Amino acid sequence: MAYQRVEIPREQIEEQEAVCARLAARFSAEGRRPVAMVDTYGCQQNESDSERIRGYLAEMGCDFTDDAFAADIIVINTCAVREHAEQRVLGNVGALNHSKKARPGQIICLCGCMVQQPHIAEKVKYSYPIVNLTFGPHQLWRFPALLEQVLTKKKRVFAVEPSDGTVTEGEPRRRDGGIKAWLSIMYGCNNFCTYCVVPYVRGRERSRRPEEIIAEAEALVKAGYQDITLLGQNVNSYGKDLDCGTDFAELLRRVNDIPGKFVLRFMTSHPKDATEKLFQTMAACEKCAHHIHLPVQAGNNRVLAAMNRGYTAEQYLEKVAMARALMPDLVLTTDIIVGFPGETNAEFEDTLRLVETVRYDSMFTFIYSPRVGTRAAALPDPMTRAEKQVNFDRLLELSNRISGEKHAAYLGKTVEVLVDGENRDERYPLTSRTHSGRLVHLQGDRSQIGHFVRAQITESATWALFGKIVP
Ligand code: 5AD
Ligand code: SF4
Repeated sequence: MAYQRVEIPREQIEEQEAVCARLAARFSAEGRRPVAMVDTYGCQQNESDSERIRGYLAEMGCDFTDDAFAADIIVINTCAVREHAEQRVLGNVGALNHSKKARPGQIICLCGCMVQQPHIAEKVKYSYPIVNLTFGPHQLWRFPALLEQVLTKKKRVFAVEPSDGTVTEGEPRRRDGGIKAWLSIMYGCNNFCTYCVVPYVRGRERSRRPEEIIAEAEALVKAGYQDITLLGQNVNSYGKDLDCGTDFAELLRRVNDIPGKFVLRFMTSHPKDATEKLFQTMAACEKCAHHIHLPVQAGNNRVLAAMNRGYTAEQYLEKVAMARALMPDLVLTTDIIVGFPGETNAEFEDTLRLVETVRYDSMFTFIYSPRVGTRAAALPDPMTRAEKQVNFDRLLELSNRISGEKHAAYLGKTVEVLVDGENRDERYPLTSRTHSGRLVHLQGDRSQIGHFVRAQITESATWALFGKIVP
């Protein structure tokens, strides 16, 4: 059955804000200002969702902490992409037994992709009784009502019904820092790569309306944000569900045209949907970072087909060549999975060859992790974990060598960076990013934070550059 867009009416969001006001009054009648902790795992979409949760909590009158022992309300926003993240979450939830004992009445909430999986929701229900509220990504917009149920009915609440997903507008949002902002433009994914759980837990692709996105971007620029990242699981299919005549390239241009000084980024792009029009638009938009995160996942065509990626290694390389021809200074990053079920050592060599050919600026590499309900989880997987680790280590070594070489090429150059924070390193007390997203540790003082400056690169390492501010 075709997916139908479901937009949550504004009145329903207003109702949630009314619940927040009710809870704020309730807390204040109890003579306290509640303290909340929000812990986020996984991708930037989850960071963005945590900003929505903090927005609601702030409307309830909460202060924020990073200390579980100081918190009245704990929200753990989880990730399901790999097993490792799930194990960490379960370990950390178990450890909350101590804070809950020390702080009776502490409310523990578990949300996000991991708990949207039925087998995990069951596990939480039966094995983690300290969790008061469990809700999936589709229910986040009604977090206040769910929390109110926990508080008034004094019983555990589970809101993890399956859904193709909804689109909400007008929720409060609390962003931290004031310099960099995530801006979600769409949710969900239709691609069903065979290893990936995301389409099962985040639902089908649905785009926000362009006028809503532009209004939010304008508000961000007005509020002084200088680094805006448009977010989606697959931004290149933006707008396909809307019939509004705006595709991703046009959206990018419209955000670029907002007056003001800021850097415009986006992620993630799917190679099969990355078009010449997109690369041309990136090249033409003066605020758009010349950085593209283009996950290749594997370099062998049989493996790519088994992953259902929708492109061959040759087609991928053509796109890279096209993008580099239009943007010679392009920074290219990628994701790669090692040990997909049935991947042979010879097939893995194709991945190494592709990486040698492309020479990524940096790479995120993962050992395949079977996910319940995905097609790949049912495939024979004869290679041992130890063998996969050997391949993984080889890939990492190659990746580090190339990143190091690319970084070394910056020595002596002067680049414009946005100073975005502080660093513990006394010699380089500031952190900054080049327009293409490279980390530069800088000499200088706090007053530079939030400013664009020119930095001369004086040292380089595998993961970062080091430099000093020059006039
Ligand atoms: N196992 C390992 N890595 C995975 N990814 C997604 N699903 C899995 C999995 N089951 C990786 C992909 C994706 C990134 C966000 O996580 O490389 O691009
Ligand atoms: Fe997962 Fe593939 Fe969708 Fe990315 S494009 S979220 S890897 S299914």
